[in-house]
Amino acid sequence: MLPLRAAARRILPRSFQTCHYSSSISTFPRTISSLLHSPPSDEGANETVTITGWVRSVRRMKNVSFAHVSDGSTIHPLQAVLTKEQSEDLSMGASVKITGEWKESVGGKGQQSRELLAEKVEVLGEADPLTYPLQKKYQTPEFLRTLLHLRPRILANTNLLHLRSGIISTLTAFFAENSFIQCHTPIITSSDCEGGGEVFAITRPESFFKTPKYLTVSSQLHLEALATAVPRVWTLGPTFRADKSDTTRHLSEFYMLEVEAAFIDTLDPLIALIEDMVATLIRSISASRLGKETLSAAGGEDKAKELEERWKGLLERPWSRITYTEAISRLNSAVEQKDAQFVFPPVWGAGLQAEHERFLAQTVFDGPVFVTDYPKSLKPFYMLPSTSTTPTPEGGETVACFDLLVPAVGELIGGSLREHRYNELLAEMQRRGMAVGDGGEDEGSLGWYLELRKWGSVKHGGFGLGFDRLVCYLAGVENIREAVAFPRWYGRCDL
Ligand code: 4AD
Ligand code: MG
Repeated sequence: MLPLRAAARRILPRSFQTCHYSSSISTFPRTISSLLHSPPSDEGANETVTITGWVRSVRRMKNVSFAHVSDGSTIHPLQAVLTKEQSEDLSMGASVKITGEWKESVGGKGQQSRELLAEKVEVLGEADPLTYPLQKKYQTPEFLRTLLHLRPRILANTNLLHLRSGIISTLTAFFAENSFIQCHTPIITSSDCEGGGEVFAITRPESFFKTPKYLTVSSQLHLEALATAVPRVWTLGPTFRADKSDTTRHLSEFYMLEVEAAFIDTLDPLIALIEDMVATLIRSISASRLGKETLSAAGGEDKAKELEERWKGLLERPWSRITYTEAISRLNSAVEQKDAQFVFPPVWGAGLQAEHERFLAQTVFDGPVFVTDYPKSLKPFYMLPSTSTTPTPEGGETVACFDLLVPAVGELIGGSLREHRYNELLAEMQRRGMAVGDGGEDEGSLGWYLELRKWGSVKHGGFGLGFDRLVCYLAGVENIREAVAFPRWYGRCDL
């Protein structure tokens, strides 16, 4: 038997074999992207093509009409030229199938050098203009959030879907190339990894699992178990937090990309991996059509320029680093010199507020900055004591961790080395009043986590990246509620 591709080559006419399908035997409708972005298949010759999509606008002139049609494959609509009669039943939002000649644009107007001279126009699904809620004019993000089922049709939102998908593809390849394997960790868990108590509890059906269970707040603990078998692991999964933060950077359900690596004894390999990962992403986006479309969708020339500068800036490495203790001094001297005013005075031992993070990333460093070695009291139980030499007030204890702060978004990544010594971890868990039972049916017991330190324990560490925040940062989107198609946040879970 002939291999499939060879067989297809024999059966299909030549013109078919050369067309811009992702696979030469695809039977899906031809995408508008493939038409707009591929050179004419045969110099000078006009092709007959069929496209499917949704009408974005119809312009009716005296003798001729123009319809812009999108199919979501690109943010640029295709222009179809129709007779007055052919355009009669078309309205914004209607789905259509148009067959015609794909030819040189007569007026040469606009971005497209070619247009579709319609021969046959079929309305597949009508959209009553009197009730269709999307309009050609600007509609605010707040209003569009009330129409989550239709919002993906707005071209900037269509682009965000492509961008999310593109970032995932690039990261998947990046991790594979660096010998990290992708793992799946559970969504239903027994414990609150971060110890913040911001867990959604599963209450029904009652006693299904015998003991209380929760939606995961982080995959870290499970990844740590996997990293004792496969030293480099990563995951990208849904994460849930019941904190009541009603801000532009918090969701109740978000995606976290987490990495765990064994056999490392400083933060350096993690930090280098992050810098490399972002540089790889930027290089891949900027060189692609996705990048060009993301800039087009940024909301005007100034915003596009600003975004391109942001991308370029991220390629300059290494990024800045500062310890928490130094950061607090920097913030305080800014206040003393009247360079900054904060609602919350920066105090050693207190968390960095969003206003502090913004000041550090935007004003002090004007780019990404790793803040390392936070006070132990601010961080979860699992972090390793730090070896930082920055003197702390009253000899306050710090841990080997970092937060990556970026302008506009604030905290994008949190990571640390983990306590790998059994006795020290046990003592810390007991100090915090955590259950350290046998790992069986004990309520929320992390006995199993402790046990990982009993047999073949190794130094290790990892980090968690807020994936939706990354999308905001790379797309120049201000509110995280736009970075996901169906956002959930405090008080809102529509659809
Ligand atoms: O800093 P976090 O809480 O770190 C952890 O959960 C670690 N266990 C991760 C690890 O080491 N494997 O969360 C990691 C990142 C934050 O830096 C932030 O970007 C994002 O997750 N994040 C949120 N993103 C959107 N909405 C929320 N409510 C978020 N909470 C955290
Ligand atoms: Mg954090």
